Amino acid sequence: MPQYQAVKGTRDIFPEEAALWKYIEGVVHTLASLYGFSEIRTPVFEYTELFQRGIGSTTDIVGKEMFTFQPDAKGRSLTLRPEMTAGVMRAALQSNLLSSAPVHKLYYIGELFRKERPQAGRQRQFSQFGAELLGVSSPAAVAEVITLMMQVFRSLGLHGLKLRINSLGDTDDRLRYREALQAYFAPFQDMLDEASKERLEKNPLRILDSKNPALQELIAGAPRLYDYLNPASVQDFEKVLFYLGERDIAFEIDYRLVRGLDYYCNTAFEVTSSELGAQDAIGGGGRYDGLARELGSSSDVPASGFAVGMERLLITMEKQGLLAALEAPGPDVYIVVQQVDLADHGLQIACRLRNAGIRTEIDLAARSMKAQMREANRIKASYALFIGMAEYTAGLYSLKNLATSEQTTLSLDAVVERLLERVEKEPLSS
Ligand code: HAM
Repeated sequence: MPQYQAVKGTRDIFPEEAALWKYIEGVVHTLASLYGFSEIRTPVFEYTELFQRGIGSTTDIVGKEMFTFQPDAKGRSLTLRPEMTAGVMRAALQSNLLSSAPVHKLYYIGELFRKERPQAGRQRQFSQFGAELLGVSSPAAVAEVITLMMQVFRSLGLHGLKLRINSLGDTDDRLRYREALQAYFAPFQDMLDEASKERLEKNPLRILDSKNPALQELIAGAPRLYDYLNPASVQDFEKVLFYLGERDIAFEIDYRLVRGLDYYCNTAFEVTSSELGAQDAIGGGGRYDGLARELGSSSDVPASGFAVGMERLLITMEKQGLLAALEAPGPDVYIVVQQVDLADHGLQIACRLRNAGIRTEIDLAARSMKAQMREANRIKASYALFIGMAEYTAGLYSLKNLATSEQTTLSLDAVVERLLERVEKEPLSS
């Protein structure tokens, strides 16, 4: 066993898998741009208070899962970002984005860190892609981000995902509900675990998000938030559902869905995959108008967004047999040098082909011709280009199609032309 191992809950992504990531990221970039979202990249660490205030101090993420480290020189604690939304809102407020234009549509792909117990689909370093639509309070905005998310899933060929959706109402609705929850749980205080007892005082809604099996029956009997919504909140929610219906996006209303972050209001949603086992949430999001004020803004900023876990997306795609078709293509051509004293000539030709945009591989270790051919087949080169002394002298080269074994002798210009025809059919980005 080598001396150093990757830290538990982190993993290496080798080239074959990296090609799949690149493909998925390409789909995200294309579709985000189709919907008018532009990319934002924010720092990987932020001041700890940003997450405490933004996500909520009684959430599991802030209470147990943050990688917080030594204060900076001014004594302020820092934390590796456990999610993107708080950082994106911080960036928007800090740079006064919304005063330059009232609406901002931002998307991201990035690494997150949560100190959770690692298991299948749950890591300590993981990746998300997501989008945040800032500045619009209409239910059309949340419908827009859900539509984009579902279109990414559809474009990747995923099926059988379940979209669950709920309304968490506005601040007043939740205040009234909070009292109802406190009244409901108070007589059962002795049954509650320590975390839930603390939450009963500070934030009883969080009890509903408890994973403790012993509490599930009690939680199931709690009043529903939906019954405390005012007519405007109900109307807002119904409009979101109307938009989803119009777009043929299937959903299920889940009156128990509260999500694990405190910033949500009105619509909240989650997408699950039965292929994932215990960690079945592949993505989630909702509206979060109050986050800006939590972060010090003088008023709310209407906002909606979602994030999808890349690792869970890949696991689901693998289980649904969608990855095989995405294998990265091999090089266009492998240069096979027949004798060592032609090695430099082979390198010159490799430069010429690469400058023309042809993906070219060549042996740099002066291995035998047999070894070079084995390598060409192993890396799935489309063609082999043979360089022998007779060919070198005559300025002619043998080009072999490795799929059909068809072989032709051509001038170098004709080789370039032939290979470029192939590149045009299968561009580099594929
Ligand atoms: P979240 O539900 O905490 O939401 O995370 C979104 C997705 O990230 C999850 O559904 C899951 O696929 C993935 N994920 C979370 N934790 C892990 C982990 N430890 N290992 C692997 N994957 C994980 C948010 O983060 C919100 N910021 C979403 C949002 C955006 N709301 C509004 N805008």
